[in-house]
Amino acid sequence: MRIDLISLFPEFVAQCAGFGVVGRAQERGLLSIHGWNPRDHAEGNYRRVDDRPFGGGPGMVMLIDPLRAAIRAARAADPAPAKVVYLSPQGRPLTQTVVRELATRERIILLCGRYEGVDERLVAAEVDEELSIGDYVLSGGELAAAVVVDAVARLQEGALNDAESAVQDSFEADGLLDCPHYTRPVEHALGAVPEVLLSGNHAEIARWRRRQSLLRTRQRRPDLLAGAGLTAAERDWLDG
Ligand code: ADE
Repeated sequence: MRIDLISLFPEFVAQCAGFGVVGRAQERGLLSIHGWNPRDHAEGNYRRVDDRPFGGGPGMVMLIDPLRAAIRAARAADPAPAKVVYLSPQGRPLTQTVVRELATRERIILLCGRYEGVDERLVAAEVDEELSIGDYVLSGGELAAAVVVDAVARLQEGALNDAESAVQDSFEADGLLDCPHYTRPVEHALGAVPEVLLSGNHAEIARWRRRQSLLRTRQRRPDLLAGAGLTAAERDWLDG
């Protein structure tokens, strides 16, 4: 998969993507990341990339032309068609379902805004999807882009080692939160490992994990239960 970043600080996202699973995915040739700085496509001595908003108000708005030129340069660098994703707090919430869809693509272009945002005409003309990583405001789209890069990178075939398997992650199998995990020592001043995990009974362990997931989800994110496809027995068990 190829990811192009349109950003005033493309090195920032590239740095974030240099470690762990994402770094390894790049080393394994499963993912390549390419930065494009709109300032390199800006005109004049000052290479201006922003200006004051029409109608007044605080902050600056990113200019159409440097961004459009950077997007075009990114598109032209590879013949594969690319979906352009703009990171902004006004976007559709990023979920694991959205991540799975993005991860199947050959290419995406991530557009990072700064200041108050980018000229809306650029969004209308060039952006295929606007995504938000949560209901809070960051000072730019770069951290959000790094989140997208990480989440899609780990889903590339061969990116995770067996021990890191994505299948049982929170949200991954069935939209439930993950169960708790334990490792050595069995006995610790902070408590003991639940007996069932030491039993070697795989069916019992699977049942316990599923129940823990259900309980956690009900306690912490009851909104997720509706879409989780619970069996009638599981619903009874939770209600009982
Ligand atoms: N840019 C600024 N805030 C953001 C957010 N919450 N999600 C995505 N991009 C952003």
